Amino acid sequence: MIPSGVVASPAELMAIIADELGPPVERPLEIYVQIPFCATKCHFCDWVTDIPVPRLRAGADGRRPYLTALVDQIRYYGPLLTRLGYRPHVMYWGGGTPTRLDPAEMRFVREALDESLDLSGLVQWSMETTPNDLSPGKLDAMLELGVDRISVGVQSLAASQLRRAGRGHTREQALAALELLRDRGVPTFNVDLISSFPTDSGPVDLLDTLRGVLPHDPPHISVYPYRATPQTVMAMQLDREVLRAWDVPGMIDAYERAMALLSDVGYHEYCHGYWVRDSVDEDADGNYKYDLVGDKIGFGVGTESILGHHLLLNDNARYVEYLREPRAFSFVQRFSLERPQRLTALVGGALMTRDGVHYERFERLTGLRFEQLRQTPHFASWLALLQECGGRFVADAESFRMDRSVIHRAYITHLAYTMTHGLALGRG
Ligand SMILES: C[S@@+](CC[C@H](N)C(=O)[O-])C[C@H]1O[C@@H](n2cnc3c(N)ncnc32)[C@H](O)[C@@H]1O
Ligand code: SF4
Repeated sequence: MIPSGVVASPAELMAIIADELGPPVERPLEIYVQIPFCATKCHFCDWVTDIPVPRLRAGADGRRPYLTALVDQIRYYGPLLTRLGYRPHVMYWGGGTPTRLDPAEMRFVREALDESLDLSGLVQWSMETTPNDLSPGKLDAMLELGVDRISVGVQSLAASQLRRAGRGHTREQALAALELLRDRGVPTFNVDLISSFPTDSGPVDLLDTLRGVLPHDPPHISVYPYRATPQTVMAMQLDREVLRAWDVPGMIDAYERAMALLSDVGYHEYCHGYWVRDSVDEDADGNYKYDLVGDKIGFGVGTESILGHHLLLNDNARYVEYLREPRAFSFVQRFSLERPQRLTALVGGALMTRDGVHYERFERLTGLRFEQLRQTPHFASWLALLQECGGRFVADAESFRMDRSVIHRAYITHLAYTMTHGLALGRG
């Protein structure tokens, strides 16, 4: 076993994971590929805070060293994972903005994946984009490569809000991107929106944005309550009172109005913030089941992997080190009850979903029993805090879940609490 947080050599790490897993049997694997390039550094974004602007906005020459490192990491770990029985079932390219890559760069990475892993069982390949990075030519190239789900960040359709957020696109470009996705028959797509963005002139209506987006009939809509993350321009503007934050009741009210509208027009929420059209076959879409389902490998910086009961991280802040040593993870830790914080974050994400924490899946993923985690003082106090934030829990023989009618309230209240106290509740 590797001492907590100590970085093992890649070969040593894979030997430990192989030992933990035992004889190879077929195991599902989720692939995440991180592309840390964007046209702009948006004022709210907490995904790329550690990437300096010139690096984030790099052209083809600046992107090459990163793509070379990425492909090296894929070609090293891919065959080892295949030998352990891992078979990828879903793949997600996120960022940053993967569509900053030109089609030849996308093909370069995809070929490395094809040659290193068995992708014959892949049911979905999803890619994030912004409206300003999606041209008809690029979309056609992506579809030809095999991308079959696109997630487009719209955030808001209010012109003032887009300007305030430092977005690289207009309302018209956002609507044109949605039209393009529909016209080209993209099998499925998602629209990212942010509720309760801070403003300088009172609330901007999220419902107007939803009403503008809905005629484009998106199969999936994500509504993220704004997180004021340190080191972002917007959080600094809040500190200086250039902008006004919403209070918690206002955030909850805005979200509940969106809930009512989305339910009325035929969407349902399967995880906090994630809305899907009622007619979508969730079983056919790999994107609905990623909490506690199985192991995952993150390629690139700013990624999290879970393999054989171990958590492996690669920090954005270690971008330069990653270029030199893409096979080395910046943090490796076996899940342990002696360090319940990581397990608690995992549970936080699962509690946001309709299914909650499924005991068997939790044990398969972490090598530990959920009941043991519940008995740790850290977890008990975290649960008590969530309860204070409005969370109510339901337990049965199979799972531990949050009462669905209060998930959004508990999430938003807890989010506001964590933003001022520096704690984290699973994913955003
Ligand atoms: C990796 S990011 C962006 C993907 C793509 N580059 C874009 O800009 O559309 C994924 C999503 O996280 C959400 N997000 C980022 N920062 C956020 C914040 N501070 N609060 C709430 N949501 C945030 C945004 O909706 C964003 O589209
Ligand atoms: S929101 Fe998207 S485009 Fe903007 S900085 Fe974040 S990842 Fe880049």
